[in-house]
Amino acid sequence: MKQITTFDAYLRAYEQSIADPEGFWAAVAEDFQWHKKWHKVLTWNFTEPRVSWFEGAKCNITENCLDRHAARNPNSVAIIWEPNNPAEPSLHITYQDLMRRVNTFCHALKKIGIKKGDRVCIYLPMIPEAAVAMLACARIGAIHSVVFAGFSSASLADRIKDSGCCCLITADAFCRGEKKIELKKIADEALVHTPTIQHCIVFNRLNEPINMLPGRDVWWQELTNNCPDEFSAEIMDAEDPLFILYTSGSTGKPKGVLHTTAGYMIYTAYTFLNVFNYQPGEIFFCTADVGWITGHSYLLYGALLNGATTVMFEGIPTYPDHGRLWDITDKHRVNILYTAPTAIRSLETFGTDIFKTKDLSSLRVLGSVGEPINEDAWRWYHTHVGKNRCDIVDTWWQTETGGILISPIATVTPLKPAYATLPLPGVQPVVVDEQGKELTGSPAEGNLCIKFPWPGMARTVYGNHERFRQTYFSTYPNLYFTGDGCRRDAEGYYRITGRVDDVINVSGHRIGTGEVENAINEHPDVVESAVVGYPHEVKGQALYAFVICTQKIPDTEKFGAEVREVVAKKIGAFAKPDKIQIVPGLPKTRSGKIMRRILRKIAEGDTTNLGDTTTLLDPSVVEAIIAGSR
Ligand code: WTA
Repeated sequence: MKQITTFDAYLRAYEQSIADPEGFWAAVAEDFQWHKKWHKVLTWNFTEPRVSWFEGAKCNITENCLDRHAARNPNSVAIIWEPNNPAEPSLHITYQDLMRRVNTFCHALKKIGIKKGDRVCIYLPMIPEAAVAMLACARIGAIHSVVFAGFSSASLADRIKDSGCCCLITADAFCRGEKKIELKKIADEALVHTPTIQHCIVFNRLNEPINMLPGRDVWWQELTNNCPDEFSAEIMDAEDPLFILYTSGSTGKPKGVLHTTAGYMIYTAYTFLNVFNYQPGEIFFCTADVGWITGHSYLLYGALLNGATTVMFEGIPTYPDHGRLWDITDKHRVNILYTAPTAIRSLETFGTDIFKTKDLSSLRVLGSVGEPINEDAWRWYHTHVGKNRCDIVDTWWQTETGGILISPIATVTPLKPAYATLPLPGVQPVVVDEQGKELTGSPAEGNLCIKFPWPGMARTVYGNHERFRQTYFSTYPNLYFTGDGCRRDAEGYYRITGRVDDVINVSGHRIGTGEVENAINEHPDVVESAVVGYPHEVKGQALYAFVICTQKIPDTEKFGAEVREVVAKKIGAFAKPDKIQIVPGLPKTRSGKIMRRILRKIAEGDTTNLGDTTTLLDPSVVEAIIAGSR
């Protein structure tokens, strides 16, 4: 792949990608290993919708991640693993070694009958086996569905059921900071509700005593024993599914976003190489968990497709102290650091003394992802971490987009703090107003849509194509609607302002308000609830729950703790509301719709201008809520 190294080259590449998208992406795809080339680069419409890239082509993404590099540079390091506890040794896994581990695990999966098209759920901590499991699935043609290890048993069960997984891969337990998480125990609770699971493979991480159900549960270490370390990859069609990843939306249960093989491969590889300006031999450190899309596309696939060395960190930025990310950076001489604004803001609260004892001279490029980065955090990152010499790439994208869509190209695009800047080649953003009219001039402010397909985009919601159409392609005809608001300045630079729907971004975790409300409503004393987001210094946004109760609650503190516990059990600890207010009623329209706009204002503490409340069934309820919020 040709790397973009000047702003002029970017402009030219962009122009070409718009004038001749098929020619542009075909040229990028040339450099990959194919069993058969495509007969048609792109077929698409945004009404069904149907998008198909590289039709007729055959390949396996893992041959491009592993075999290519293992053949040329067998001893170059693919994964550096840094354990939670810094006293434990880190691991350096070469491309050859990683390929062997993946092959061995392919045999293990085959041995228990997993085949092409089967769904396999991966519920693992940040250990190399998570990467091995994902790659082995891809290599045998099984569809992986990774569930973040911070999700509760109920969330895990829902995800397993929705995609009908036949196998679960998990671990006995692991530590995040000081805290031990008994993963197999949580998985066991889920497995009571998941009849489709025939096998549960358990990696022994901590030697914890756990229950193993004979016939269903098997140790990773035993299953892989005596398995050969060569395996020829399943040859996949370009549009064969690669993975499912659940993400939250405005309404209903989380959606199983489905990504397919060739387009995703080309897109993550291309964007990794260009956005981070990756140079051969460099060390890339992405702090995202493999349970999220950033972990899939950049920690794993994008990095390996480019033969890069990727750092996988099991722990948290504040353990054993708040210098951990900088220690890892120095220890492994990290060149590119990719993290989230929430991590930056939380480290910012500890001050800058810590930097006196850290070197950080290996750093060259810094990345930000997951939520808008405020100017303050941007400058802190730039000054104290990047020492004013590293470019910050503020990368905007989504689980559904598969890869980065709007971002500076490191060393190439002139930066502007808090701006994701310009669309990458192949990406055609449009800003529309509420009526769906395209705002062609700049500056402009409105909702962000994309009007042309890119190879990495999701193809459907697993098992529910109508929901895919409805969610992303029905708001504005012939446009992909992102759910984000944005501003485009006079120079055409984009600033993403946040979600315009009922998705809340708490510490970079996408949370649907409906999901949290459903969880809260499970509490026996709760009649109804409404959850909104409000600005939070560290988390970006936090959750505020307004709750109607069946009876007078004598101990509101205890009640609050119980409500948080229900949410932790139903979703995960990260979705616990920060504020809980018991209210006599909710502001509803005559048709019964909750006016969240009003609740958002109250949550923000801005009650001076609540806008029009005349359509409310009972406007007096608003006064009561405001009184109770003080
Ligand atoms: C938000 C994460 C502003 C946005 C890759 C999007 C951002 C949602 C940025 C997707 C950014 C992500 N600036 N907002 N650089 N990156 N977002 O699916 O609201 O977990 O719609 O994907 O995060 O979150 P998701």
